[in-house]
Amino acid sequence: MLNDYKQIIASKISVPLPQSEVEDMIVAVSDDSLGDFAFPCFKLARLMHMSPVAIAEKLANEVQTDEHIVKVQAVNGYLNFFVNRVELMWDVISDVFASRGSYGNSDMGAGKTICIDYSSVNICKSFHIGHLSTTAIGSALYKIYTALGYNVVGINHLGDYGTQFGKMITAFKLWGDRELAEREGVKELQRLYVKFHQEEPNHPELTEQARAWFVKIERGDPEAQELFEFFKRVTLAEVMQIYARLNVKFDSWNGESFFNDKMDAPLALLRKKGLIVESQGAQVVDLQPYGMPPCLLVKSDGSSLYATRDIAAAIWRKNEYNFDKCLYVVAYQQNLHFKQFFKVLELAGFDWAKDLVHVAFGMVSLEDGSMSTRKGNVVLLKDVIDKAVSKAREIISAKNPDLKDKDEVAEQVGVGAVLFSALENSRIKDIVFSYDRVLNFDGETSPYIQYTCARCNSILDKAGDYKSSAVSGDYRALDNPETLRLVKLIGAFPQAVKDAASKYEPSIISALLIDIAQAFNRFYIAHRVISDNIAEQNARLQVVEATATVLKRGLELLGIEAPYKM
Ligand code: ARG
Repeated sequence: MLNDYKQIIASKISVPLPQSEVEDMIVAVSDDSLGDFAFPCFKLARLMHMSPVAIAEKLANEVQTDEHIVKVQAVNGYLNFFVNRVELMWDVISDVFASRGSYGNSDMGAGKTICIDYSSVNICKSFHIGHLSTTAIGSALYKIYTALGYNVVGINHLGDYGTQFGKMITAFKLWGDRELAEREGVKELQRLYVKFHQEEPNHPELTEQARAWFVKIERGDPEAQELFEFFKRVTLAEVMQIYARLNVKFDSWNGESFFNDKMDAPLALLRKKGLIVESQGAQVVDLQPYGMPPCLLVKSDGSSLYATRDIAAAIWRKNEYNFDKCLYVVAYQQNLHFKQFFKVLELAGFDWAKDLVHVAFGMVSLEDGSMSTRKGNVVLLKDVIDKAVSKAREIISAKNPDLKDKDEVAEQVGVGAVLFSALENSRIKDIVFSYDRVLNFDGETSPYIQYTCARCNSILDKAGDYKSSAVSGDYRALDNPETLRLVKLIGAFPQAVKDAASKYEPSIISALLIDIAQAFNRFYIAHRVISDNIAEQNARLQVVEATATVLKRGLELLGIEAPYKM
């Protein structure tokens, strides 16, 4: 839609630049009273030996208006275009109705594969609020890239390897109980782990036992293997329940331990390339020339590290999926780790190392003080979701006591509010989570978007025999600032989906949905939708329907459901 206008406008401007370049330079004007699109003349000043202001004025006199472009104006070095706004709104709404549930989709990713490593939970550790952002952002990117036609591979790179599992087995054999662990889940495993660390200072033999069990895990000892599988089952049973509630899916669960037998070849290659040096018994890649500490690959006792596994994993993924890009949605605390192993792969001669992207994000803490993982008193994601859902239920019951399916709606609103809190701001920002804020139905929140969407549905329901689908009605009734604003924002959605993908920033969609919801509420206050003039009413109802369609689709891409009624 937008691109059609850019094309029409570019064809009317004759300047010493290729038309495609002119098209790319055209921007949308945010103040509707100044125009709809603008062509900045600054870049031309050198080429044309004139000031931008003079160029804009010259062009304003030259450009021919017609039924599509109704007015041209020079404004401070910009050439501003007023389009036929009735036609523009007609175009946007036709677009929405032509694609509906797939509005914003495209085939730009056809034939391309994107791997997204996200959520990547740790076995025997609780699913705490620190895992919210990676899960929410990764899952949203998964849906966004899918909508753009990419083949997407969602990977949960499980944290299922390390010396801590030797400690876990030792603790479990001394103090553990299978039934209790089945019943209590990760909480019980965590209790044992904490106990191990409490006892260890007074019982040095524990350290030895843990080391021995770790060696057994590495050697594939059946008992160690069985216990480890048990821990994994207990952890994943819990994690799966959360994924189901958050509507999060994965195509691969190959985590760190999957690469146990896949590190020799990469290490041999790095050795052959002369990249590995000995340092105090350990094997490292020196990264000093790149301003980084060495990348540790093999410890002096011969065991591998997080980075070793990530190097093996990246190579395996390239061979298995032949990705065009591989994203790692991981907190910024791991910036150095990713920079290091990306560099090692680049030095090893893998030209695709440039296609590895660390999609970093900030920290989440709760309003009532941040969490401490060391002491084991973590804030569980499940508890946060449960609390948000129960608060949502209270609000809904107060607002709409007669609502049916209150539990289902409360779940959709509560879960949505939690997800949205991780998706609303540019991802690198730290988040302070507040129940009252994320559940404020009048704030810039997901309940606000959901509520607006439900309001649209109820307007359409009340409109009696309104039949949607074909664009019809008297669109002249829409020629006012509130409606124009709203429809332009709806028209901006497809580009926002693309930008969200290219910048790995679902918040671009979140922000647009908030803008659309706010614009809708202004439109609704300013204009009576239901009227005696059926042709005008139809046109307004179509705006309402288009709003509901785009809000629902946008929420869906963020992993959030839109209840029909609220
Ligand atoms: N399990 C890790 C953690 O919780 C995240 C793993 C991220 N993915 C990766 N390929 N390193 O910190």
